[in-house]
Formats: sequence, structure tokens, C-alpha cells
Amino acid sequence: SQPLRLGIAGLGTVGMGVVKIVQAHGDLLALRAGRPIAITAVSARDRTKNRDADLSGYAWETDPVALARRPDVDILIEVMGGENGPAKAATEAAIAAGKDIVTANKALLAHHGQALAEAAEAAGRVIRFEAAVAGGIPVIKALTEGLAGNAIRRVMGVMNGTCNYILTRMESAGLPYDHVFEEARQLGYLEADPNLDVGGIDAGHKLSLLAAIGFGTRVSFGAVELEGIGRISIDDIRRAADMGYRIKLLGVAQMTGRGLEQRMSPCLVPADSPLGQLQGGTNMVVLEGDSVGQIVLRGPGAGQGPTASAVMSDVIDIARGIRLPTFGQPATTLAEPIPAKAAAP
Ligand code: NAP
Ligand code: HSE
Repeated sequence: SQPLRLGIAGLGTVGMGVVKIVQAHGDLLALRAGRPIAITAVSARDRTKNRDADLSGYAWETDPVALARRPDVDILIEVMGGENGPAKAATEAAIAAGKDIVTANKALLAHHGQALAEAAEAAGRVIRFEAAVAGGIPVIKALTEGLAGNAIRRVMGVMNGTCNYILTRMESAGLPYDHVFEEARQLGYLEADPNLDVGGIDAGHKLSLLAAIGFGTRVSFGAVELEGIGRISIDDIRRAADMGYRIKLLGVAQMTGRGLEQRMSPCLVPADSPLGQLQGGTNMVVLEGDSVGQIVLRGPGAGQGPTASAVMSDVIDIARGIRLPTFGQPATTLAEPIPAKAAAP
């Protein structure tokens, strides 16, 4: 059968992870997808950069919009990042050119996902983003497939590994926030704009996507109550420990009498609970459905292999013809988001 042809925009950590999986596991992917999966074209800024893989068999486009429009590309894999700029332009171009899209870009989706998904669906295409929330944990598939028969009561979790690293390291080494923040920077854990991590914004992006899927509503990042970890002191952490608690940057989305509440903020959790035990850069998402009860998913929230693993799961779903609607539509919404007291940035 005809191969499903991928165009990869972005050859950084995630993009090169996707290249490595396709190059290493061609037979396995073809078996799982029911047809061969081939990369036909790639895009990044610097063609001369050594990327530690043979890319000579793929067409090169410096402009990701040109990549998105290529007739030999069926799926655009957008792994450049950024809320606007080339990520948005290439995604829009791909939809207009009749391509499906797989992206890991939570910032793009939190701000523009609703409009992009509606445009994609109007064009008979899909936009999939398992990698955008909790990296390698298949949490979106858990909500849309495994728990599809449940009314979701609550979605909760630790969705930013960098913040979890900082908080657990402060406690285990007894070090102040500023010291551990600097360590995280040197280890390369922080986003280019660290406030995305420590300000709770990145985790808020992820929560807004999970909430929209879980509660059948539109993406409403502006309605997420956001508070980061920058004001957590080592004394706060010690006092919490004395009482048997740990401080976690916890996201909670739940239905209340007033509508859908979405909060991302530092919270006390019992030290001996699964969330309290979560160490380092690991993520954990707790899903509560009316029939199933509580499900706990734990795993790597970032990194090349885990994130590319999630990207490939979306590619295989598209190959299998799974074309689920993405978010709730205004006309069929099941929940009304409660506006945040101070609108999220
Ligand atoms: P990255 O390592 O910084 O790679 C970004 C890539 O995009 C680079 O190859 C860069 O080209 C290319 N790029 C940037 N601007 C471009 C432009 N204008 N035209 C063409 N190419 C351009 O980023 P990443 O860590 O792989 O992350 C990619 C996406 O995945 C982001 O949305 C991120 O939030 C998301 N994500 C990442 C992780 C993770 O663990 N890294 C986890 C979950 C989600 P050059 O190489 O030539 O500079
Ligand atoms: N900065 C993010 C984190 C990367 O620390 O979890 C993965 O989305």
C-alpha cells in the first residue's frame, strides 16, 4: 500500500526523536499503522547543523510553510515550538493544503488550538497532539478512547517536570529556590523563557487542553487560574514536611456548581500519596470518571524518546483512520469555563 508521508518541521529534540523512531522501526510502524510510514521532507533553520542522523534521503525546506504545502507530504509534524510565528503559519498552511497535523506544541494549542481544530475539521482534516500534554504519558488517548464512556469528574496532576524537579530538589537537598533554579538552568531543564515553567504557564497550557477534552468544551487557557512556584521558600517546604505534606505545582480541572474550574497553583498534597511521592522531572495525571473511578498515570513528561513516542502514536492513529473531533464546539459544549479572576497571559 501507499506510504503515509511525513513532513517534519523542526529537527530539535523532538523532531530528531521522530526521525530516529521512523529510521529504527520501519517494519514495526508499518505493521501497527497498516501501511508504511515514510519521511519525505524536513525543515529547520540551519541546514549545516550536525544532527547525528542521515537526513540525505529527505527533501529539505528552510521555510516550514513551504514544507507544509508540499504535495508529497500527508501529515505535517510541527515540532518547532512557539505560540505564534512559524508554528502557527505552517499549521495554518497545512490545513489549507489539506494535510493532517501532529504537534507537540502546547503553547500554540492553548492559544490557537480551538480555531486551528475547527479549521482542520471544517476541511475534513485532524490535528492531534498527544505529545503536548505530559510527554510520553498517553493521557489524551486515555481520556478520548479508554475513558470515552465516562462523564469526567476531575482531571488533576503534575504536568511540568521542571517545577517538580525544583520543588523535590529544594526539599531533598535543603537548598533555596534561587540556587535550585540556577541548577535547573545549567542542566538545560528550563524553557528558553523560564517563566513558562516556573510561572505555571506551560503547565496551565497543558491543563487547558486536558480540560477541554475531558469536559467536552472549548479550550479556554484564559480561564485558568495561574500561580507559579517562584514564591515558594525552603521554609514553606519544611513547614509542609513537618505536617506530613509536600508542595506540588498541581493542576486541577473540575466541574463545580458555577461551571468548569481550572486551577494551576502550588498545593499541599499528603507526602505519602502518589502525587506526594512523585520525584524529579516525572509527571503524574489523575483522571476521575463517573463509572471507572480514579485512574493514575505516571511517566516521563519530556525528553526525546518519550515525546517522540507520543508523536508517533498520533501518526499511527491517523494511519488507522481514527479521526476524532478535537475539542468541544461552542454549539455542543458540555461545560462552561469559569473565567479566571485575573486573566491568564
Ligand atoms: P528544539 O530542540 O528547540 O527544536 C526546535 C526546532 O525547530 C529546531 O530544529 C529549529 O531549527 C526548528 N525551528 C525553529 N524555528 C524555526 C523556523 N523559523 N523555521 C524552521 N525551523 C525552525 O525544540 P524541542 O524541544 O524539540 O520542542 C519542540 C516542540 O515540542 C515545542 O513545542 C515543545 O514545547 C514541545 N515539547 C518538547 C518536549 C521536550 O522534551 N523537548 C516535550 C513536550 C513537548 P534549528 O535546529 O536549525 O535551530
Ligand atoms: N518544560 C516542560 C516541562 C517540557 O518541564 O515539563 C515538557 O513539556
